[in-house]
Amino acid sequence: MVSFPDYSKITVQPLALFSSSSIKVDMLRLDLLHEEVSGNKWFKLKYNLERAQREKKDTILTFGGAWSNHIAATAAACDGLGWKSVGIIRGDELRPDSSFTLLQAQRHGMQLHFISRKQYREKENKDFTGFLNKKFSDPYIIPEGGSNALGVKGCQEILSFCEPEKYTHICCAVGTGATLAGIIESTSPLQQILGFAAIKNADYLRDKIENQLTEKGKSTSWKLMTEYHFGGFAQKTEQLTKFMKDFYDAHKIQLDFVYNAKMMFGINDLVDRKYFPSGSRILAIHTGGLQGNKSLAN
Ligand SMILES: Cc1ncc(COP(=O)(O)O)c(C=O)c1O
Repeated sequence: MVSFPDYSKITVQPLALFSSSSIKVDMLRLDLLHEEVSGNKWFKLKYNLERAQREKKDTILTFGGAWSNHIAATAAACDGLGWKSVGIIRGDELRPDSSFTLLQAQRHGMQLHFISRKQYREKENKDFTGFLNKKFSDPYIIPEGGSNALGVKGCQEILSFCEPEKYTHICCAVGTGATLAGIIESTSPLQQILGFAAIKNADYLRDKIENQLTEKGKSTSWKLMTEYHFGGFAQKTEQLTKFMKDFYDAHKIQLDFVYNAKMMFGINDLVDRKYFPSGSRILAIHTGGLQGNKSLAN
């Protein structure tokens, strides 16, 4: 059994800004779990690491871009556990000092292997996987973002750190949809689950999320909000940075601008537009990712 983070650090924090209206918003602070293996990242890794351990693998290999929270978390988790890690990084023009994320990953002992964007698109093809197995001595391979069935299984545990039945709406940021799928699987059909897409043109994600659900999950009411992307993945505007600052001033909670700031902006906007019926109790899940703010400072 892999034991690593201190779950007692996770808290539920009421957001006072919203308390004057008839809508109440609480934040599930998964970001507090661990400085580097924070938020949803740990939950997506957990069962993958357990399987790797069962299969007696001593190296974890995974994929990501230069600012990937998943690369950062995998490197830190493997370092903490005393395991080897390999990161296959999108962009053969990059170097370990191209971003804070890559530098940190390297400091955690991750071996970085840079490949072209074209090659990266084909990373799951058999020949390339065969090459990786040979070059890196038969590692345990975790897909990009930690988003596989074991990742979804881990995310089904996220709501056990609060009292989910108290909430009418549960909100979460969406990249691949694996985290949202785990949340959908672990809620009751009476609740509404809202995913906030961090990428542009995210409509295709609806099918992708649906495909990760069991029959139970399919009976849950969920929605993907696609209009809060602020120009696309890892893009930001002055309006978003101002919102992050105001949010910090009001709650002393830092948001990452890639995922959680967009979700919180969306919730705020929906409250203003009276999307939520009076008396709604909303849970916003803070999925971490704060290391990304350092890599993407400008
Ligand atoms: C901080 C953070 N929040 C949310 C997400 C979205 O998770 P998913 O890809 O499972 O939709 C990610 C990406 O993994 C992330 O790094």
